[in-house]
Amino acid sequence: MKIRQLYSSEEIAARVSTLGRQISEYYQDRPFTVIFMLNGAIFFGADLVRALPCSARLFLDSLAASSYVNDQSTGVVKVRSKLKLPLQDREILLIDDILDSGVSLQSVTKYLMDGGAKEVRTCVLLDKEVPHTGLTAADWYGFRIPDLYVVGYGLDSEERYRHLSFIGYME
Ligand code: IMP
Ligand code: MG
Repeated sequence: MKIRQLYSSEEIAARVSTLGRQISEYYQDRPFTVIFMLNGAIFFGADLVRALPCSARLFLDSLAASSYVNDQSTGVVKVRSKLKLPLQDREILLIDDILDSGVSLQSVTKYLMDGGAKEVRTCVLLDKEVPHTGLTAADWYGFRIPDLYVVGYGLDSEERYRHLSFIGYME
């Protein structure tokens, strides 16, 4: 099996810096909490928050959730960890690697709102061109991609290939 490059690390970096500008325009001087979805958002999230202005108003936390078994979505999202920061009345920016069916982001958004968050906005690196079942669309996304299984820059196939600096699809 070969991995073919879809986006280079340079293309990703350019897009991340644009997203950083758009997101900082939205939050301006308001405090907000960034939550990385583990493990997929580790590289995207790390690069994106560093594209935001250095501010004491940005709080950082992470959450582990999963719905995939053997590269297939089970449709049921399990939150596997606890947040360190309180949610009450906070504006949350939830960052994930990819939006596919939208079930993961929708479930986690509900989990955060049920926990008392004031607002949850979402940012994904990749938005797959599949019928989204009308569940959720991300507030910000990096690239819209065809319905391919992609790996790299945080995205995995059964925990492999996350460390690749580019995004590729499996042939
Ligand atoms: P959704 O719940 O169907 O939107 O799936 C989103 C989650 O599934 C993401 O956070 C990824 O972990 C995983 N996922 C979906 N598509 C891919 C892919 O092409 N490559 C790697 N992971 C994927
Ligand atoms: Mg994931």
